[in-house]
Amino acid sequence: MSVTIRPGEVFAHATEFDRGIRRLLPHYDQLLTALSWCIPPEAQRVLDLGCGTGNLSARILQRLPQVQIMAMDYSPAMLEQAQAKLPPNQTTFITADFGAWAVNPQDVPPIEPVDACVSSLAIHHLSDAMKGQLFRQIFAHLRPGGCFWNADPVLAPHPHSAALYQRVRQAFTAAEPIPERGIVQTCGTSSQDQLATLATQLDLLKTAGFVGVDVVWQWFGVAIFGGYVPV
Ligand SMILES: C[S@@+](CC[C@H](N)C(=O)[O-])C[C@H]1O[C@@H](n2cnc3c(N)ncnc32)[C@H](O)[C@@H]1O
Repeated sequence: MSVTIRPGEVFAHATEFDRGIRRLLPHYDQLLTALSWCIPPEAQRVLDLGCGTGNLSARILQRLPQVQIMAMDYSPAMLEQAQAKLPPNQTTFITADFGAWAVNPQDVPPIEPVDACVSSLAIHHLSDAMKGQLFRQIFAHLRPGGCFWNADPVLAPHPHSAALYQRVRQAFTAAEPIPERGIVQTCGTSSQDQLATLATQLDLLKTAGFVGVDVVWQWFGVAIFGGYVPV
């Protein structure tokens, strides 16, 4: 029987996510490590949007053991996995839709200003208008000098690059069987993939007020990009 899932849960069973994502997405671990390096060494508070099973937060804590994490996700099943992985004394779990938080932050438990905000493989489920709204909300929740880095699939800027991205991804996807996928149903502000080009997203970041907007890692159709709040 097919299992319906929220956008971003990917697999029918959250217990399969950590194994499945490594088969589905080439260089997933390298991506997490690269993103963890984007966080300044002196950071104290980090917000992880769409934390899933907690792999990015765990990678950040490995490198920066002093950090307090605010981990937000709308999926109880994914959060349950994250809770089993992340230290309770260093993690605050927030069950919320980050798009709804962007529009009505008062509906979510208050989040104090943070030094860094990160997200991996989650924001591409929002429409471009909502991505822009979320970038503005993140900007408003960062301390002066704070930063935001997002790792996400991006829309190819040309059909030739779309074919290239697909060719490479197929060639690098693990040959081992991939766990059962769920049937994605729109949930809150997220729906099936709504990819935007890197150029569009860099513009959205600049419009939100970020400076030093940059792309620090890219592997064909997946990129890490972000910027800073002026001091
Ligand atoms: C592919 S998983 C990635 C999880 C984790 N960041 C990682 O890299 O392993 C995407 C996560 O984003 C969450 N997500 C998607 N849209 C969301 C939204 N609007 N609000 C909160 N969480 C969302 C999903 O529940 C899922 O846990």
